[in-house]
Amino acid sequence: MPLLNSSDILNWIEQCDTEIVKAWGPIAVGLLAIVIGSIINILLLWHQRKQNNRQNKFNTHQLELSKSKEERNEILQRLDTFYGPFIQLRTQSEVIYRKFESELEKEYKQKGTRFRTLRHLLEGKTLSPQENDLLKQILEINEKLLTLIESSSGDIDKLELQDLLGKFSAHIRILKLAYEKKLNGPIELFEDIVFPLAIDGAIESATERLKYRLNEINCMLKWQGTYQKKLKSNSTIRYYDKHGDEYTNRTLFIDLSELYNPFREQVKRGGRILDAGCGVGRDTRYFIEHGYTVISFDASREMVRRCNEYPHAFCQNMSFKDIAYKEEFDGIWCCSSLLHLKLEEAKEAIKLLTTALKCDGVMFISLKLGKGHKRSLGRLFQYYDEDTVQELYKDDSRLEPIKLWQSKSLVVDDLDGKWLNLLLRKKQFFF
Ligand SMILES: C[S@@+](CC[C@H](N)C(=O)[O-])C[C@H]1O[C@@H](n2cnc3c(N)ncnc32)[C@H](O)[C@@H]1O
Repeated sequence: MPLLNSSDILNWIEQCDTEIVKAWGPIAVGLLAIVIGSIINILLLWHQRKQNNRQNKFNTHQLELSKSKEERNEILQRLDTFYGPFIQLRTQSEVIYRKFESELEKEYKQKGTRFRTLRHLLEGKTLSPQENDLLKQILEINEKLLTLIESSSGDIDKLELQDLLGKFSAHIRILKLAYEKKLNGPIELFEDIVFPLAIDGAIESATERLKYRLNEINCMLKWQGTYQKKLKSNSTIRYYDKHGDEYTNRTLFIDLSELYNPFREQVKRGGRILDAGCGVGRDTRYFIEHGYTVISFDASREMVRRCNEYPHAFCQNMSFKDIAYKEEFDGIWCCSSLLHLKLEEAKEAIKLLTTALKCDGVMFISLKLGKGHKRSLGRLFQYYDEDTVQELYKDDSRLEPIKLWQSKSLVVDDLDGKWLNLLLRKKQFFF
């Protein structure tokens, strides 16, 4: 039943005092007009504020875009005027140097020592006419490198890289003076002016970092939004994200020479290495410091952050599934990382890694010795033995095994653990 019907309302109006209505009517109308006016004003203000916000957002976005365009041009300029030419000249120099030192290296090896150009010149030892011509060519390229470094010093934003370039320049100058026989005094005086082996790796990492940023900016400009690559996480990756300190303390300082050596024997000197699942970057650092150029990746953001703490590294947050390199690496280093993938996933990863490898390149894989798989503190571990490990590569006709060996664990709290190490080569001809 309705509480009030229309006849009730009519009765109530009739009963109202007409005098009251006459007196308060205009006031009520006035108040109503004020209320409506205020509401309209508020609505107008609200609309205007919204428009202003939109305009501000648009302006900020335009500013960001123009800043990004500026940054893109700056990066392109740095790549064109410094990093590109530097890499070109260093490649020329390296190729000629290989020819120059080949005979001398053999001679020194027989004597049980290593050949070093500066020492050889300081000791006043002779060079064959051909060696002399080749060295002259190297010195000419060095002069161009010096000019490039001096003219582009503003393009290098990392202090550590500037420091390395300083050492490199000093070495070039001393080498020239030694060649011109202008240096006197004991050899030991100049012994510490060594060629900084990390130079090529550092330049390569800086170049890759710039290219990566360029790609980010291009995506941002294309989609007119921010570019963020999101990686799917799993409990293994979450473990590494959470236990950064603990994992660093356990693994950063172990000496893996017994694993590095067989790999280095197969990878050309100064070659390009992919450190796949690099963790805190112990091996990335080792290879760069020994004259290789290294690209690294890891699925854990925390591991990537730590690897990139070494100023000459370039590490990306990427999973095995994302590998898209094609014939770019002389060596692939997969130290205790593939063991976190189940057998079928690991096989898929090895296919992608093989595509990333140059023909005749080698891949090192270290795995835990045992059977089946298990989980420990959220991490998945897949175990292998001499038979099951063949499953990883036997269906890929591009690969051939070159060495399989066991080693003891070097991690303090896992000294009972045993490892299975595998070296694979990508054949030069495969069908
Ligand atoms: C045992 S650690 C080894 C790290 C380093 N290679 C070393 O020897 O110290 C395993 C590494 O593999 C990474 N990892 C696990 N699954 C991965 C995946 N699917 N893609 C890329 N990295 C992965 C982890 O984040 C971790 O850093």
